[in-house]
Amino acid sequence: MLLKTVQRIELPPAADMHVHMRQGDMMQLVAPTILQGGVDTAFVMPNLVPPLTTIDRVLAYKKELEAAAPGVNFLMSLFLHSSITPEVIAQASAAGITGVKLYPQGATTNSDAGVADLTAFYDTFAAMESHDMVLNIHGEALESLTPPGITLEEAFLPTLQSLHKRFPKLRIILEHCSTAAAVEAVKACGPSVAATITAHHLYLTETEACCDPFAFCKPIPKKASDRDVLVRTIAEGSPKFFFGSDSAPHPLQSKTGAEPGKAPAGVFTQPFAAQLVLLGLCEAIERGVLAEDAINEEILANFLSHHGRRFYKLPPAAPLKKIVLERQGAAIPASVRSADGNIEVGISRAGEQVFTLRWEEA
Ligand code: NCD
Ligand code: ZN
Repeated sequence: MLLKTVQRIELPPAADMHVHMRQGDMMQLVAPTILQGGVDTAFVMPNLVPPLTTIDRVLAYKKELEAAAPGVNFLMSLFLHSSITPEVIAQASAAGITGVKLYPQGATTNSDAGVADLTAFYDTFAAMESHDMVLNIHGEALESLTPPGITLEEAFLPTLQSLHKRFPKLRIILEHCSTAAAVEAVKACGPSVAATITAHHLYLTETEACCDPFAFCKPIPKKASDRDVLVRTIAEGSPKFFFGSDSAPHPLQSKTGAEPGKAPAGVFTQPFAAQLVLLGLCEAIERGVLAEDAINEEILANFLSHHGRRFYKLPPAAPLKKIVLERQGAAIPASVRSADGNIEVGISRAGEQVFTLRWEEA
């Protein structure tokens, strides 16, 4: 298959292992876009307001999501916080909660209740390891703890390594990895450590992220060389790397109305999740970063669907459904908008031509 010219691609349903679904009207608007992006399984982030720190709230949220987006399998997470004791881990595991998200305090949107001292959670991590729950990490050190000349993500990597060493069987996901150094660090860990890669980190760099509010997110897109390592990592096909869009909707006005450099962090890709991964890979081929035939259906199916499901120990992708992507000259609209017009969210790469996606019985 030559991605640059192929007209039609059939793939298993994608699994998006990092989504932000928000609450209320925003949730009602974005949850139905999951299927539009070719995704039938979504791992949901807990950075709500207030953060999801109790099992009851996680389960109630899951019900709301299922009602808002029937047909999507939602995997749920708790927000790591002092109330998440080993006992809570045992109960969460029994309740079918999949993961616990670690946000360094203040690292990103709605993370003020996050972790300041990791050592305070060693008992919790030990309980997660014994219950085989997944630890999802926002891997950025605080600016105040980051030496000059390295990125916040690079400054976090020693913490990842020491956690893995201390809890070698704990399944850890370094979320939305954005640097060549992070890819190396994840490869150097054992099979219990994996990483998600977003669509937008395949096509954005610091050049766009610095100045376009719709390209601004955490972790901030880095150098072209980092972006190209992410693309090559997908082409290599290691099971340690899989798709997590980190689609993070913010109201359009909060992006356009912000002072320069002050827009909330988050890139919204959900309605075109699979399509934007293809766009990022296509552009890498056009730049000569990947060979023309470096991307085929198997690589795409592994990255978008199989690797994530396997790491999460889920059953294989639904055998009776597939997504069909065709080049029909469709372009990404500027935004999605609620029926009453009250909420609007700008979509990444608006105006760009993308594959048209539809669901079919396999
Ligand atoms: C996310 C959000 O808006 O909730 N923002 C982002 O830039 N990715 C939070 C996060 O995942 O860091
Ligand atoms: Zn996120």
